[in-house]
Amino acid sequence: MERTLVLVKPDGVQRGLVGEITSRLEKRGLKIVAAKFICASDDLAREHYKVHQGKPFYEGLIRYITSGPVMAMVWEGPEAIKLVRQCMGATNPVEAAPGTIRYDLALSMSRNLIHGSDSKDAADFEIGIWFKRDELFSWKRENENCFTGTN
Ligand code: RTP
Ligand code: MG
Repeated sequence: MERTLVLVKPDGVQRGLVGEITSRLEKRGLKIVAAKFICASDDLAREHYKVHQGKPFYEGLIRYITSGPVMAMVWEGPEAIKLVRQCMGATNPVEAAPGTIRYDLALSMSRNLIHGSDSKDAADFEIGIWFKRDELFSWKRENENCFTGTN
């Protein structure tokens, strides 16, 4: 079982898409294990996106992600990292596959609505900086078998 960090970015919150985006992940069969509505500090944003430090888009990215509240969540499931990335679509909405969040709901790489961890190491790191251990809930779905066939 994997866990992955998802952010509905400030543009998603402003556009009233928290429900739409969360609903898509729930319907896919992923399970929510943590959520908080939070304004990222400059420090948290820089830590989160430190792999992009020095790139031309980095400062704009920090301004974007700190421009308003985000809905930060942790989602769990078998191959949750890959599943969320698939639901998101390519970084540039123009390249995203139809049916993905970024294809269906966005048009610009600099306002692409959602973040999802891109590897197991990134997920562990990102969950650790956005959430305390006691903010993560391990809970059993009564109908887990309906999703995974493993009950
Ligand atoms: P994210 O980290 O936000 O989930 O997005 P991602 O993995 O799909 O893309 P990543 O390469 O990690 O880039 C992080 C965010 O930076 C902005 N970006 N702008 N060339 C550019 O102008 C450029 N490249 C990336 C996007 O907002 C992207 O989501
Ligand atoms: Mg990324």
